[in-house]
Amino acid sequence: MAGMARIKITVVGAGNVGATLAQRLAERGYADIVLVDIVEGLPQGKALDMLEAGPIVGYDARVTGTNGYDETAGSSICVITSGVPRKPGMSRDDLVKTNMAIVRGVTQELVRRSPEAILIVVSNPLDAMAQLALDVSRFPRERVIGMAGVLDTARFRSFIAQELGVSVRDVHAYVLGGHGDTMVPLARMCTVAGIPISKLIKPERIEAIVKRTRDGGAEIVNLLKTGSAYYAPSAAVAQMVDAIALDRKQILPCAVRLEGEYGIRGLFVGVPVKLGAGGAEDIIQLELTADERDALQRSADSVKELVGVMGLQAT
Ligand code: NAI
Ligand code: 2OP
Repeated sequence: MAGMARIKITVVGAGNVGATLAQRLAERGYADIVLVDIVEGLPQGKALDMLEAGPIVGYDARVTGTNGYDETAGSSICVITSGVPRKPGMSRDDLVKTNMAIVRGVTQELVRRSPEAILIVVSNPLDAMAQLALDVSRFPRERVIGMAGVLDTARFRSFIAQELGVSVRDVHAYVLGGHGDTMVPLARMCTVAGIPISKLIKPERIEAIVKRTRDGGAEIVNLLKTGSAYYAPSAAVAQMVDAIALDRKQILPCAVRLEGEYGIRGLFVGVPVKLGAGGAEDIIQLELTADERDALQRSADSVKELVGVMGLQAT
């Protein structure tokens, strides 16, 4: 019987983030998953293990593991998680040189076989790697999107919900800027059931929560000792994939290349984006205060510095 095939989603990197993401996506059931890694046997073994969970969990998604790229051909969405994670005391930016070579090679392989795909970049340092993937792919900016804001915002929302003893579902917030120490948690726009947190939480506590959010990645690294966060990061990517694959038109904070929005040009910075079948379909321009604009600009400056270190142009 002829019919519609499931879409294909490729996940590159079968490590902590990539494999957990593949599992989350397989369990949703709407896509076949191809898991790619350079380590022989690793993507094949994890993919087979996930396939064998299908009868128990109740999904028919095909999960394929490979060390090559032929199986990725015709993917609708490709997620790049390949790279080296942070170790204690190491900044995200220290990763730049190693991960640059990896992300460049992976992007070339992916776009050759899936020229219409939407790329979601996860590898760190996030904003710079997204910029590199855009450069290498020559895709329009709508189709190269970095994941960081959903994760950073989820951390912010978790801490606020904990502070107030309310459901995380009732906490709305945005963290903008680069995925680094200069990220901009917009405390002023954070609300609980429509009430601004400034009316519910003392300023010094808000300050502490903002700081904990900024240091959220390092807090996990210091606890784990080897490797970095992956449950929340993979959940964040899965939410972005859902929004694109199911054409949700959902507004989520994502890293996209700005072309004058927020007064920033040619750099990847986290801002609210409408995600749908076309990728980053629209950029939402929030009205910021002068302080917030300055903080966003400082964050963009640090992305620019890194892009310079990589020898890329802010285009
Ligand atoms: P991991 O070390 O568990 O997995 C990375 C995988 O990439 C490994 O299995 C490795 O073999 C593979 N790999 C390396 N070179 C490759 C290549 N050329 N081709 C294919 N696969 C290759 O690391 P984890 O925890 O999964 O993190 C992955 C990346 O994501 C890191 O750069 C990390 O810093 C970043 N990250 C970013 C977040 C964000 O918010 N943007 C959140 C969490 C992680
Ligand atoms: C994080 O924020 C490692 O960037 C990653 O957890």
